[in-house]
Amino acid sequence: MQKTLSPVLKAKALDNRLPEPILGDRYAEETMRRLDPGYDHRRFGTSQLGLAAVVRAKAHDEWARRFLSAHPDAVVLHLGCGLDARMYRLDPPATVDWFDVDYPSVIELRRQFLPPREHYTLIASNVTNLTWLDQIPRNRPTLLIAEGLVPYLPEPAARRLLTTVVDTFPGGQIQLDTVSVWAWRTSKWDPTLRKYGTQFHCGFDDPSALADWHPRLEYVDEAPMNDSPELMAKAPANVRRAYRLLNLLPGMKRSTRIVRFRF
Ligand SMILES: C[S@@+](CC[C@H](N)C(=O)[O-])C[C@H]1O[C@@H](n2cnc3c(N)ncnc32)[C@H](O)[C@@H]1O
Repeated sequence: MQKTLSPVLKAKALDNRLPEPILGDRYAEETMRRLDPGYDHRRFGTSQLGLAAVVRAKAHDEWARRFLSAHPDAVVLHLGCGLDARMYRLDPPATVDWFDVDYPSVIELRRQFLPPREHYTLIASNVTNLTWLDQIPRNRPTLLIAEGLVPYLPEPAARRLLTTVVDTFPGGQIQLDTVSVWAWRTSKWDPTLRKYGTQFHCGFDDPSALADWHPRLEYVDEAPMNDSPELMAKAPANVRRAYRLLNLLPGMKRSTRIVRFRF
């Protein structure tokens, strides 16, 4: 699963090279260069199709930014953080305590590439081993961000994680993304996932229904991904064409959904 890091990071690094980037993440480009000194952004090729993941990152950033400006005393649980530089992109005030959680091997890699900061803690743990929650302050507005994580968790583990967070903290926001049942079921044949030796473990056709998992969880809204207006405006022409075609396939447009809840 840690292997799924590279395509997302590469997409963000490529985006940073666009004349008008979608996310504009200079940390991704710096990290990619150090991780893979042979990396050549000119060999864009089909990996440009990863640009939808950049749209996803931006949607999560915008929701998080709004939550933190309304709740400057918040605690952020950034789960399955990978090598994503969200904390540096958002640059929250010192009143926010930010926790990045991922497997020990990924956290070790982060330590090599991204600098430490005040009010910023790295937690090396499987997110489904909920003892990591003991390190988090209670009684503060809580923002949970799970970008590109939920599809890699078995549904009962995802459910236990979300319901425990709702039970543990007084209130806040949960933002995550899911894949469709079709994308989950066919993931063992997905060439990109196969290349990285992984597959999805859950899928949802109606992710708003995750609100049924807990009486205090309420669905708020969804952000576009594969048909995002920004992707269609800023991606290179060949990528826009590819997405227009792919989006004609039944189920493709909504194969990944970015959703927000409050509790
Ligand atoms: C597709 S990557 C996404 C990384 C990052 N959120 C981003 O969007 O750039 C998935 C990440 O989730 C992490 N992950 C998957 N399952 C996990 C688990 N059970 N516990 C901790 N981290 C997990 C992987 O190690 C990887 O870093």
